Amino acid sequence: MSVDTTATAVNPRVVMTASGEPETCIVTGQESRPTARPGKVVVRVEAAGVSYAEVQMLQHLHPFPPRFPFVPGYDLVGRIVETGPGVTGWSVGDRVAAMPRQGAWQEYVEVPAKILAPVPAHLDAAVAVSLITNGVTAYQMLHRLARLAPGDTVLVHGASGGVGTLLTQLAVHHGLRVLGTASPAKHDAVRELGAEPLDYRDPDLAGTVRGPAPDGVRAVFDHIGGRGLDAGWAMLADGGVLVSFDSSVAGYRPGQWFRPHVPALRRTVVRWAARLLGLTRGRRQTMYYVKPGEHFNADLAELYRLVDEGVLRPEIAGRHALHEAPAAVRALLDGTTVGKHVLIP
Ligand SMILES: NC(=O)c1ccc[n+]([C@@H]2O[C@H](COP(=O)([O-])OP(=O)(O)OC[C@H]3O[C@@H](n4cnc5c(N)ncnc54)[C@H](OP(=O)(O)O)[C@@H]3O)[C@@H](O)[C@H]2O)c1
Repeated sequence: MSVDTTATAVNPRVVMTASGEPETCIVTGQESRPTARPGKVVVRVEAAGVSYAEVQMLQHLHPFPPRFPFVPGYDLVGRIVETGPGVTGWSVGDRVAAMPRQGAWQEYVEVPAKILAPVPAHLDAAVAVSLITNGVTAYQMLHRLARLAPGDTVLVHGASGGVGTLLTQLAVHHGLRVLGTASPAKHDAVRELGAEPLDYRDPDLAGTVRGPAPDGVRAVFDHIGGRGLDAGWAMLADGGVLVSFDSSVAGYRPGQWFRPHVPALRRTVVRWAARLLGLTRGRRQTMYYVKPGEHFNADLAELYRLVDEGVLRPEIAGRHALHEAPAAVRALLDGTTVGKHVLIP
């Protein structure tokens, strides 16, 4: 157990108070700095990610809805200022990444030591945090779930987003041809990532995809869900995979947090059974949810290596002070920017 004596006693933080508009339901305040309980550390945050999860929490549509009021913040990069009893392998001063799913939007966060991963000292904090949830999600969907070969063609939905920009860069680096959907205003940005842009509002997207990929694509990465999963399934080549990694389809009311996911769950189960019966021409549908653990740390380390090599260039859409959190969430809600928003306490 040890403490950094330069850590301040107060802890500025952001609180989400209720479901509603970011400008009224996200407020800043301060508390006392937490102390580290057994098995935990306190981290002084250098950068915390703003993610679509907070948009869903604000709309009370997140699959694991927290109780209001709470401190949001899915992931963070910072330095340990206190280690609790029983913590081994980590010391005060170590630079770490963590994905606590909540609580990162404050200057000091208590985090279980078992979910920490090391962060290279030279890496920009915003870049490092952009790779935690979004980067590991992109990496694992591509390399652990889809298992594609160079030369394959894939479709990435939301190629202009936090996950999509990284997934596109990783896929291009792997030698894949990437068709990336985005709103037309962001097609130049998608092109710069090495993908061929398509408009997700195209009413015959499956037909359009048959132009560049007459036999279908080897993988579709979909975070919208709903009926779009049928279009994605129709785009697949024989043996292809549809990866469903969220259901952010519009049209649900606050509190209906589970209902958007029902169509994806149902289709996954039905297509799994159909595949077992040999009825899908080898096509499969699978769901993905990022989790801490052994692979998480190894994959994050690989992502940091790819940044060092210049392969990955994470897009940072904005760096904001804690009191600017409502504006950062508003930017995600309105879809006005490309890449990742980050809070710098
Ligand atoms: N399963 C997991 O473990 C996991 C992990 C991380 C994130 N996620 C989920 O992944 C999704 C993306 O997160 P993010 O941080 O990348 O969000 P983001 O930065 O807000 O990006 C969202 C992207 O979706 C695009 N989009 C909007 N409407 C669309 C539609 N109807 N069809 C296809 N694309 C559409 C946007 O394009 P325009 O801006 O051009 O409109 C944008 O590129 C979220 O739903 C998030 O919850 C899941």
